[in-house]
Amino acid sequence: MLAVIGGSGLTQLSSLEVARREVVRTPYGEPSGMLTFGRVGKQEVVFLARHGHGHTIPPHRVNYRANVWALIKGAGAQAIVSVASVGGIRADLAPGTLVVPHQIIDYTWGRAQTFFDVIDRPVVHVDFTEPYDELLRQRLLCAADRAGLTVAGRAVYGATQGPRLETAAEIERMARDGCDIVGMTGMPEAALARELATPYAALCVVANWAAGRGDAQHTIPLETIEGVLQEGMAKARRIIEHFCEEEL
Ligand code: HPA
Repeated sequence: MLAVIGGSGLTQLSSLEVARREVVRTPYGEPSGMLTFGRVGKQEVVFLARHGHGHTIPPHRVNYRANVWALIKGAGAQAIVSVASVGGIRADLAPGTLVVPHQIIDYTWGRAQTFFDVIDRPVVHVDFTEPYDELLRQRLLCAADRAGLTVAGRAVYGATQGPRLETAAEIERMARDGCDIVGMTGMPEAALARELATPYAALCVVANWAAGRGDAQHTIPLETIEGVLQEGMAKARRIIEHFCEEEL
C-alpha cells in the first residue's frame, strides 16, 4: 500500500477509485482527517489531505505524528509520497516547476517532531543523512519521465515555521545556507516517517517565487498562486498515476 499525503492544491486524488473512508485514531491524537482508501491503477493507495478536507489546518498546527502514525501503523502503508507546494529560491525553479528534493534543512520550531519522546526507554537516534528514500525518489523521477514531464531531480528543501511567508532577508539567508526551495510542511513529516523506518519522498510544485526572488521583489503576488498551483498539481497527479503503474 502506498500512502499519498496531499498538500495545498491537492485535497483529493481524482484518479483514486475510492473503496472506503476511515477514521483512524492514534496514540498521538487525531490525524488531519479521514483516510481515503482505494486504488490508482493496480496500486493500493491510502490518501490523506494534510491540511484537512476543507484546507483549514495551518502548517504549524498539522498533527504530523498522528498523520504519519495513522498511515503507517493504522493503514499499513509501506511508503509515503508527500505532495506539497513550495516557493522557488534557486534561479531555475520558477513558478510551475516540479521538484523532487534530495535534502532538507529544518527551520521549524515547537512542533511535536519525534515518536521517541519518552524518558523511560533507551534513547534512539535515527540516521537522517539522506532524509528522502533514494529509490522512491528515483521512481518518482522515472514516473515523471514516462508522463513526459520535466522535474528538477535535486534540490534542498528549507522547512520554515509559517504560517507567514518569509522576509526577503530570510530567503537570502536560506539561499546562502544552500536551500533551493522553501515550504512549511516538509518537517517533521520526513523525519517521522524515518523513525518508523518507512521510505518517504516528496513531489513539490513551485507555486511562487520565494520572497525577494523573481517577480516577488517587493511582495509575493498571492493572487497568481492559485492558478499556478492548480496547473502544477494536475501534473503532480499525472506523475502519481504513472508512479502507480509499477507496484511498490
Ligand atoms: N514560502 C514557504 N512556503 C511556501 C511558499 C513560500 O514562498 N510557497 C508555497 N509554500
